[in-house]
Amino acid sequence: MSKNKLERFAENDTFSNLFQPQYRELLQENFAMKGCWREAFFHNNNPIVLELGCGKGEYTIGLGKKYPQKNFIGLDIKGARMWRGLKTANEDKMTNIAFLRSRIQLIDYFFAPNEVDEIWITFPDPQLKKPNKRLTSPRFLALYDKILKPNAIIHLKTDSYELYDYTLNEVLLPMSKRVIFNTDNLYADQTNIEVKEIKTFYESMYLAAGKPITYIKFGL
Ligand SMILES: C[S@@+](CC[C@H](N)C(=O)[O-])C[C@H]1O[C@@H](n2cnc3c(N)ncnc32)[C@H](O)[C@@H]1O
Repeated sequence: MSKNKLERFAENDTFSNLFQPQYRELLQENFAMKGCWREAFFHNNNPIVLELGCGKGEYTIGLGKKYPQKNFIGLDIKGARMWRGLKTANEDKMTNIAFLRSRIQLIDYFFAPNEVDEIWITFPDPQLKKPNKRLTSPRFLALYDKILKPNAIIHLKTDSYELYDYTLNEVLLPMSKRVIFNTDNLYADQTNIEVKEIKTFYESMYLAAGKPITYIKFGL
């Protein structure tokens, strides 16, 4: 492991807005924040927005700055990447940001039914060979449904046309889900200015390479 990574992990341990529970802890006892993120951590009654696979956390941080009246939680398994977002959140004294280092498959261990208001899925691995592992497969949507409020919104931003097409035409439409907006070229679209305002690390790379970015806004 590189020195840089070790230093980041060590600094991560000092951040009070990072949660990195061990799997065995989750099995043995309830995660302390489950059902009480607002009261016990954010100390407000504001909506909770999750970013799944947040990487370095640009979206979580960007949204957090734009919407101080909402709480944002970035979830990813990679602590060294997440360090970047944590560092910014702490340097800028942001009180509406937390990060959770764990697997997306475990989210119902971390959040109670109806606790989450909105989900962003930003540039996930398209899992071209394993549809069941895609973050918009019916299996994952069922998981999100366990923690989301009724009528909550999910956003998918991806450079993968295959994942976009699969999500729209093989999952959402056949399952009669509520598709609010979709485009296979977000940056050629004159609307949805807000969705383009903040760019993730991967998004900037794909844009620089000239790849179209697709976007779907939907409900369950
Ligand atoms: C392609 S990167 C995108 C990162 C960021 N959203 C961006 O756009 O720059 C995908 C991220 O998802 C995370 N990831 C993939 N599968 C995951 C899982 N099952 N649980 C938690 N994180 C996961 C990876 O660690 C990685 O940081």
